Amino acid sequence: MQDYTSLAQEHHGLFITFEGGEGCGKSLQSRMLFDWIASFKDAVILTREPGGTNLSENIRNWLLVGNINSWDPITEALLFLAARSDHWFKKILPALKAGSFVICDRFQDSSVVYQGMCKGVPLDILDKIYLKITGGRYPDRTYLLDIPPEVGIKRSISRRNNNETRFENMDIEFHKKVRSSFLKLARHHSGRYLILDGNLSPDEIHKKIKEDLIQQFRNIFS
Ligand code: TYD
Repeated sequence: MQDYTSLAQEHHGLFITFEGGEGCGKSLQSRMLFDWIASFKDAVILTREPGGTNLSENIRNWLLVGNINSWDPITEALLFLAARSDHWFKKILPALKAGSFVICDRFQDSSVVYQGMCKGVPLDILDKIYLKITGGRYPDRTYLLDIPPEVGIKRSISRRNNNETRFENMDIEFHKKVRSSFLKLARHHSGRYLILDGNLSPDEIHKKIKEDLIQQFRNIFS
């Protein structure tokens, strides 16, 4: 049996993820955090899911473009996990092992919420595959940007400059469920999560994230 704890401890970098519903502002916040950390540390990468490697960006295209019913939930979940596996082994894990900071726009919790809690894929299947991929390494800190879906979808549509509309086009009830599921998950993992009000200005949110990181990881950010 794999010793997940010791495996997890072998990975030295800092792993930070952003989560939230459509148009919550997490991509902007990931970028702002990256720019801030890069101003004093060379070893930091900004990446995203689905995506981050050539294969995973191709899978992203299958997943996010087209009709909302293109994939059944299990197929969809396996595609997200396939993309995550390639991303983990080729990009995230090597960076963490090298002591780098990794900032990732969405990660496994998006699969737990969208495919698991909202589309009914059994959570134990998602967890087992995740454990097999990562050896039980979870993000060190996760920021949930919480925003009413009506506001987020409007923002998302007005800013979109591509055809990745498959999830955006799901109905408002689905997006309400996404919001409440993220809040539930974040409260369940309250040691790892900070919930932020996505209605605040980008600068205010960024300030809170910086303060939180400095407080959480004093030894690294002093
Ligand atoms: P993203 O590119 O973050 O879009 P946005 O910035 O508009 O929120 O994510 C694309 C979509 O993929 C998003 O609707 C959530 C969905 N998704 C899942 O359903 N499962 C997953 O595991 C991931 C990573 C994303």
